[in-house]
Amino acid sequence: MIRRNRILRTSPAIRSMVAENFLKPSDFIAPLFVTEGNHVTEEISSMPGSFRRSIDGTITEVKELWSLGVKSVLLFIKCPDELKDNKGTEAVNPDGLMQRSIRAIKDALPEMIVMTDVALDPYSIYGHDGIVEGETIVNDATVDVLTRMSLSHAQAGADFVAPSDMMDGRTLAIRQILEDHHFVHTGIMAYSAKYASCFYGPFRDALDSAPGFGDKKTYQMDYANSREAIKETLMDIEEGADIVMVKPAMAYLDIMRIIKDRVNVPVSAYHVSGEYAMIKAAAQRGWLNEEKAFIESFTSMKRAGADLIATYYAKEAAKLINNY
Ligand code: PBG
Repeated sequence: MIRRNRILRTSPAIRSMVAENFLKPSDFIAPLFVTEGNHVTEEISSMPGSFRRSIDGTITEVKELWSLGVKSVLLFIKCPDELKDNKGTEAVNPDGLMQRSIRAIKDALPEMIVMTDVALDPYSIYGHDGIVEGETIVNDATVDVLTRMSLSHAQAGADFVAPSDMMDGRTLAIRQILEDHHFVHTGIMAYSAKYASCFYGPFRDALDSAPGFGDKKTYQMDYANSREAIKETLMDIEEGADIVMVKPAMAYLDIMRIIKDRVNVPVSAYHVSGEYAMIKAAAQRGWLNEEKAFIESFTSMKRAGADLIATYYAKEAAKLINNY
């Protein structure tokens, strides 16, 4: 025998010497759910171990994440029902929960990278990402609100706005409004390859944002396809996106690899709520080792080309990595 492949797997030291992919705490983006009130911490029923917190508790969480080496958070807010409409009125309120959360985090910890979700679903009486007319989610009027929403996030101090709506032309329109108002340091992380996925189910429980009618298939992509992921991503980059995203992650690692090979901007994976819930549920029954399951999942995302990973396990993953 000339080739004994097992030689390079002999010991932990040899394996670590030849390991190709690593996780570090700053790879992770921690999504956080913010709700109104004071000292409010509500566990999300379909995402055990994940919480909606009021701004005070969110600040505590952000400080802990920073101390573990996690350097970015992605904010989502739970909009009270009475403030929802079909125009995104609350989404552009300079004193809305999102805008107040951004300011509070940047005041408490200016170095933390604050990213914000830009889409209308938490603010929509229909739970859709855009303005609804009849059965249609209208594109251009929605883009107009999304640009003003992005501007208000930038004005509140957001470092990156993250449009997750999948409307056409939104990235360019957002870049233009930021330029027009001299927000030359505000980045755009575009959810570029975002599929219409059942794996977002638990997230919609978290924000009470499930679509009231129909589904999101006229704007999010069809999981049968890969070419439109390339088309969407290349367009977002042309339109000014600084970071692009593939979402969900585990069932879409082929897409991650294709995108990574085609682009020269950082690519983020989003390990979404349903993917988190699957590991959690199996672990709670003793059927999977939770830590091994998420570390293996995240390492496979890096292997597929992910530079960044948004995950509800960000804190746990950072703790584990720090203790290796
Ligand atoms: C809002 C948005 C969603 C997610 C991120 N931003 C839900 C959706 O598109 O229906 C999903 C995140 C997750 O499932 O963890 N547009």
